[in-house]
Amino acid sequence: VCIRRATVDDLLSMQACNLMCLPENYQMKYYLYHILSWPQLLYVAEDYNGRIVGYVLAKMDEESNECHGHITSLAVLRTHRKLGLATKLMTAAQAAMEQVYEAEYVSLHVRRSNRAAFHLYTETLGYKIQDVEAKYYADGEDAYDMRKYFKSKQ
Ligand code: ACO
Repeated sequence: VCIRRATVDDLLSMQACNLMCLPENYQMKYYLYHILSWPQLLYVAEDYNGRIVGYVLAKMDEESNECHGHITSLAVLRTHRKLGLATKLMTAAQAAMEQVYEAEYVSLHVRRSNRAAFHLYTETLGYKIQDVEAKYYADGEDAYDMRKYFKSKQ
């Protein structure tokens, strides 16, 4: 499995992977908005048959005064989990945020009950809980608003 930058040709496969893995789904125009605006912040994991088995979709927040990145969505197909792919996808997107856009930090939202993702963010990648957003998700579940400051900015 290789990790590489996503291209426009990958967007349908990324959307399919998202539909299989997460209840938060997006229209194609939202994927296009990401890749046209921040082409360096979308990565895919591709297996030896050319199948997309994971992705990270990320963006820059241009409204707040501290320049920062945001992970919109991350998923790895069930068949390819626990191989370190999500860690590699996240590391690639984070490095681009820091190097290309000079981000101060990266943020994301995760469901309170999502143990696998919470472990990845806190234990493996060093994110901290910034806030809890009550009933953030459509089904009423709370989100952890998480943040990781980049070393060069501390
Ligand atoms: N339970 C506990 N720990 C876990 C689990 C689990 N089910 N799955 C992975 N981990 C741990 C790994 O052991 C590893 O820990 P280590 O660094 O201490 O060894 C760490 O998390 C990272 O593991 P990876 O292999 O890099 O993660 P993986 O490729 O399996 O992907 C992911 C993790 C993305 C959360 C995957 O389970 C998934 O796609 N889940 C469904 C979609 C999802 O929840 N996406 C995130 C939503 S939040 C957002 O999009 C911003």
